Amino acid sequence: MSIQKTLSLIKPDAVAKNVTGSINAKLEQAGLRIIAQKRLRLTKEQAEEFYKVHSDKAFYRSLCEFMSSGPIIAQVLCGEDAVAKNRQTMGATNPMNAEIGTIRRDFGESIEHNAVHGSDSPENAAIEIAFFFSSLEIIE
Ligand code: CMP
Repeated sequence: MSIQKTLSLIKPDAVAKNVTGSINAKLEQAGLRIIAQKRLRLTKEQAEEFYKVHSDKAFYRSLCEFMSSGPIIAQVLCGEDAVAKNRQTMGATNPMNAEIGTIRRDFGESIEHNAVHGSDSPENAAIEIAFFFSSLEIIE
């Protein structure tokens, strides 16, 4: 167990549904602290860069179009085992397979429009946090 930081994105579908406050409440109830947060809109090129690990997947083009289709909320979460805790709070990638009470089960619509993204390891969290935030923007 260790204190970690992780990147969270509230995706365009959830921002459009106006459920960002409800999502933040679930994160906070899980013991995660939001130590940086901003609203922005990715360009298609920025989405392609962020998701380049998936560039060989059939869903890559559609995912990047979706992620640049409207505003998102980028967040840095901090807490005990924050990477795993956030992924547990998000639920499975496909909302249909996500546990009751998780963010994706409650707010996701499909495997692509699945409300949130969260880093999958502390190493990727560091890379993904640096993609969106400077150290000056992260207040612990
Ligand atoms: P995310 O956690 O943002 O990481 C990559 C995203 O790709 C994932 O959430 C889903 O939104 C999306 N994704 C993963 N698998 C599929 C799939 N089979 N079809 C469409 N989108 C997918």
